[in-house]
Amino acid sequence: MNPGFPIQEESDGRLVYWGQERPSLGMAGVAEQIIPVTLGERSYDIVLHPGLLATVGERLSALTTSPKIGVVTDRHVANRYLQGTLRSLCKAGYDPTPIILPPGERTKTLGTIAKILDALAKHKFERQSLLLALGGGVIGDVTGFAAAIYQRGIPFVQVPTTLVAQVDSSVGGKTGVDHRLGKNLIGTFYQPRAVLIDPLTLRTLPRREWIAGLAEVIKYGIIADEEFFTFLEQEIPALLKLDEEPVIHAIKRSCEIKAQVVAADERESDRRRILNYGHTIGHALESLAGYRGLIHGEAVGIGLVQEAELACYMGLCGREVGERIRSLVQRAGLPEQVSQASFTSLWGAMQHDKKVVGGRVIGVWPVRIGEVVIRPIEQQVCAAWFQSKHGRGSRPSSGRQPGKHPVRRKARARR
Ligand SMILES: NC(=O)c1ccc[n+]([C@@H]2O[C@H](COP(=O)([O-])OP(=O)(O)OC[C@H]3O[C@@H](n4cnc5c(N)ncnc54)[C@H](O)[C@@H]3O)[C@@H](O)[C@H]2O)c1
Ligand SMILES: [Zn+2]
Repeated sequence: MNPGFPIQEESDGRLVYWGQERPSLGMAGVAEQIIPVTLGERSYDIVLHPGLLATVGERLSALTTSPKIGVVTDRHVANRYLQGTLRSLCKAGYDPTPIILPPGERTKTLGTIAKILDALAKHKFERQSLLLALGGGVIGDVTGFAAAIYQRGIPFVQVPTTLVAQVDSSVGGKTGVDHRLGKNLIGTFYQPRAVLIDPLTLRTLPRREWIAGLAEVIKYGIIADEEFFTFLEQEIPALLKLDEEPVIHAIKRSCEIKAQVVAADERESDRRRILNYGHTIGHALESLAGYRGLIHGEAVGIGLVQEAELACYMGLCGREVGERIRSLVQRAGLPEQVSQASFTSLWGAMQHDKKVVGGRVIGVWPVRIGEVVIRPIEQQVCAAWFQSKHGRGSRPSSGRQPGKHPVRRKARARR
């Protein structure tokens, strides 16, 4: 699948990065940004600052009284950022224990959780000892879950190093692991004590991972902020070059939107579902690809475009909404076409998602850029749309015409 950048692990464990181009993030004169996540006694700050990694140790003093810190990371991240992090922790008087895991989604298992718990018990971690998640979403999810269950909960701090983790997975307290029958099937809501973001770590991110993260950034514009979406339309070339100012603004605005949504609905009973825009089809495609070949953000890129098209088909939004989304997704270098999946397999995969309630697939649909509605979708509507695009797969049984579905009359803003 797209994008066609050669990205692979060398025999010595190095990743092949994106050619000669070196991103230009620097530390000069950039003010520290603080974004509060307001959740009563579980409130915390997201701190965003280039170069922050060097000061991680001193930032933890308000969060734990124990000298023991477990630094959970993966091999790729450890190669680049572990020594600096340990130095900062030791300088601040902590006694850090690194826990280095294999990189990638396959690490998100209960077996990994058992290994982390073994290490904590062996090193006599106590109730006040803190875990630091230094890495991408995989590391954040497993560290948060281990922190949630060790001695019924110890504090943890997110130090995200991928774009996906900096704008999405580190904020909001969803933690957990995959089950062989489904992704993220096991887990808990458990909030970090802080999210410490150093955008300089993005300099070493493989280009493919960087682009995948942009799908989540674009999602925020669509669900909540047209001005931000317009900013992304204007700045996408600069973002692709990792220019400092737009990158920091994109991370900050994404975190603000996620923080607002999470504060309004911590456990995803209602409004937090809007964060799933692009993920109904996205998750189904990821699962059909067996979580190989298509990384999460790429699947979400396709989901953003296809779900807008489907919303348009249902009469929920105008064609221009879908076109703007398609154009931005394309310009970001993300894929936007559904693969060779048949409707039957696509719909089947959509049924296995956590967004299914009482057998109904609950979708998120744009009504304009910056505003979405949450609605269930019926199989025959989805089938009719799919058939109108591909001319194959299941036939609709209702005989309804495109744009004539009753959902159009009910379309209403939900902010
Ligand atoms: N908890 C949530 O709310 C939430 C939200 C979105 C995604 N997720 C989860 O996050 C995971 C995906 O996260 P991800 O995209 O960060 O993947 P990831 O953690 O697997 O990281 C991607 C790759 O980048 C490497 N890497 C990380 N930081 C690097 C850096 N600075 N430089 C070089 N290489 C680096 C990693 O070693 C890995 O190989 C999925 O498991 C997904 O389910 C969770
Ligand atoms: Zn996502």
